Amino acid sequence: MERIFAGKQALVIGGTGGIGKALAIRLGVRGARVFVQGGSSRERLEGTLGAIRDAGGEAEGFLYDAGLPESAAEILTRLPPPDILICAWGPYKRAPVERLTAQDWIFLTVNNLTLPGILISSVLGDMIDKKWGRILLFGGTNTDVIRGFATTAAYSAAKTALGVVAKSVALTAGAYGVSCNVVCPGLTDTEYTAGVAENYNRERSPGGIPLNSDEIADMAVRILEHPQVNGAIIPIDRGLKL
Ligand SMILES: NC(=O)c1ccc[n+]([C@@H]2O[C@H](COP(=O)([O-])OP(=O)(O)OC[C@H]3O[C@@H](n4cnc5c(N)ncnc54)[C@H](OP(=O)(O)O)[C@@H]3O)[C@@H](O)[C@H]2O)c1
Repeated sequence: MERIFAGKQALVIGGTGGIGKALAIRLGVRGARVFVQGGSSRERLEGTLGAIRDAGGEAEGFLYDAGLPESAAEILTRLPPPDILICAWGPYKRAPVERLTAQDWIFLTVNNLTLPGILISSVLGDMIDKKWGRILLFGGTNTDVIRGFATTAAYSAAKTALGVVAKSVALTAGAYGVSCNVVCPGLTDTEYTAGVAENYNRERSPGGIPLNSDEIADMAVRILEHPQVNGAIIPIDRGLKL
């Protein structure tokens, strides 16, 4: 495997599980020094660091609950300025709009939009100065266009807005070697998927087969390898329409 990201520092928010972990391993294999942030599980953090190192990569990591906007600045004090920023952590809640609370709106928009936004604003100047940067954001299933969602309005609104963020970064920083894109996975089974969510993913996915983290990460790393793709909102969902 060509070490295309040798000498680059990568920060993966939500990099200790699911899609973020699968992508963190791929970045390590390609030569990046990977800093993974996890939420609460030391076991998953250690497992991820071990997996990256076993694959020949260099990895460090820490646990940090990124629930408040101030968390973004705090996260960045813990590591060198990243050349590659991945925002994978993206919580959701299913409920009709009329049942979402103020706390739901704040939690879902802060973690899915404000946190990536603050991180990007904090690191972009340095990427522009260095004339090199890669930013990858994760949208939601079908948030590549403006549409209605019966049970995920707050989550999907925040995820849809990430497209504006990516296109804005591409517009102003693309000329300086910085790419910023949004990947919108289809329903993807991870180690966090269980019970009701597992059944939902199977029932709704084309052919009854949900995606897995490796399939999403394989495509995501290709986008990072090719900065010609910039400001794009890319569904990786085998044509699923919810
Ligand atoms: N899975 C899907 O079907 C699907 C579909 C469409 C879009 N997406 C999007 O794809 C991205 C990845 O999703 P995913 O399902 O793989 O995983 P995820 O649950 O969004 O993220 C898991 C990662 O976030 C960390 N985390 C958990 N709570 C946290 C907190 N309070 N503060 C900071 N970090 C926390 C986890 O650490 P711990 O393990 O320690 O908790 C882990 O590293 C998300 O943005 C999601 O919205 C997913």
